[in-house]
Amino acid sequence: MKVLHVAAEVFPLIKTGGLADVVAALPVALAHQGADVRLLLPGMPAVMEAVQHARLVIDIGNCFGALRVRLLLARMPGSALPVYVVDAPYLYRRAGGPYQDRQGEEWPDNLQRFALLGWVAAHLAGGDADLQWQPEVVHAHDWHAAMACAFIADHAGTEATSIFTIHNLAFQGLFPLHDWPLLGLASRLMSPAGLEFHGQLSFMKAGLKFADRVTTVSPTYAREIATAEFGFGLDGVIQARGADVGGILNGIDDVLWDPARDSAIAAAYDTQNLQGKLACRHALQAELGLQGDDDALLLTVVSRLTGQKGLDLLVAALPELLAQGVQVAVQGSGEPALEAAFHMAQQLHAGRVHVHLGYDEARAHRLIAGADAIVVPSRFEPCGLTQMYGLRYGTLPIVRRVGGLADTVTDEPDAGGEDTRSTGFVFDAAEPAALAQAVLRALRLRRESPVQWQARMQRAMALRLGWAGPARQYLSLYETALAKRRTVGAPVH
Ligand code: ADP
Ligand code: GLC
Repeated sequence: MKVLHVAAEVFPLIKTGGLADVVAALPVALAHQGADVRLLLPGMPAVMEAVQHARLVIDIGNCFGALRVRLLLARMPGSALPVYVVDAPYLYRRAGGPYQDRQGEEWPDNLQRFALLGWVAAHLAGGDADLQWQPEVVHAHDWHAAMACAFIADHAGTEATSIFTIHNLAFQGLFPLHDWPLLGLASRLMSPAGLEFHGQLSFMKAGLKFADRVTTVSPTYAREIATAEFGFGLDGVIQARGADVGGILNGIDDVLWDPARDSAIAAAYDTQNLQGKLACRHALQAELGLQGDDDALLLTVVSRLTGQKGLDLLVAALPELLAQGVQVAVQGSGEPALEAAFHMAQQLHAGRVHVHLGYDEARAHRLIAGADAIVVPSRFEPCGLTQMYGLRYGTLPIVRRVGGLADTVTDEPDAGGEDTRSTGFVFDAAEPAALAQAVLRALRLRRESPVQWQARMQRAMALRLGWAGPARQYLSLYETALAKRRTVGAPVH
């Protein structure tokens, strides 16, 4: 089966969040299971520099406001996965982020930048971009790639099936309606039944409306986004797709994230030998200048600092938690108010709180290996990867019961009242007191029942969190979607 994954970011080349981890790992896992998988990426500077053996596939010329657009075929560094790169220097080669400039402003031509990405995907699917390879499945990730689904739907001859995965419904790719002519799409697609969304153009909606199947990254989030509370105004559109929408839980890269083989951490460890984890804890306390207090519950946070992540709850609960003997090591960046609040907490509680405002992969490994627990109190969470990294490292997740957090962390006794299943601590209300209660439960369990604490750790570390299972689920979804296309034909839009 020939599968094209379309995305704007991929680890380690370009990453703003978990999307990049997924795009790096899922295609490789699909290839391991026999699929013929390629990636399609916009030619941002980091991509142009990192891909290997690039060769020209087709000179596209002038489109979407750029004079020189070419399609290249190269290999990903590391995995050697084939990767198509849209080389459009005018649109993609600039210093700054993939979606925003250095000041945090959206690039003014994001409509053209990401329409081009989808348009090239549709031409690969239609067979006129690369005569040597034509995907049967186009799998588009988030709004950045969603226009692929609209362009495919707009070209009657295309046989490929399109799959759209929502990684985060909060980011939708909204543009002024009057920019519609720039897209070059049939006018019937510009209506509330198409891309129009309350007087704007919505790329997210292009995926939701025109993909043959829509997935999101956890079963619980798939149910949540059909409600007004989590739907960001698109819950009606999602409900209307009915059984076409489903959730497939993300995996994690269990080679990159493996405490037994992680060269970034102070000492290796596994379920049979947890001594190394203690060494990681001591090394981390020393590195961060935290008191060498063996009794403290050492919490970590590795996160974007935004409203989604609910870390204001942690800030509010902090005085009480610190008074009870908690230590906190935070790494993240984002909203200035949250950054300032954590910075202030560090100043007030030197030796008990450490904050690193920035992004650092190796440090994230050291934090997750060295802490006792990782806190993810999100208001909404499509999947979440860091709680899974925590599970893998025996760093028990303390999470709110939403989205993928609810699907990955267990905190309940079995039917007989014995605790044989729990892998972390889960709370419900998005309130500081509810978070504090869960943290204090963790603190007491670690102090008073070290055997049970260790049992939770070992259970968590033994979970199978890799991509093999999710990749099988995606393959079976692709089969179903393709079979439907072959028997029923393309839907009429
Ligand atoms: P989201 O994509 O919503 O930010 P995820 O949990 O899915 O949340 O993915 C976040 C990814 O980004 C994880 O791989 C996490 O380790 C990483 N990450 C987030 N902030 C930092 C940081 N400050 N330093 C290093 N890695 C980070
Ligand atoms: C998004 C979500 C996160 C998810 C990630 C990868 O960034 O916020 O929950 O884990 O995508 O799918």
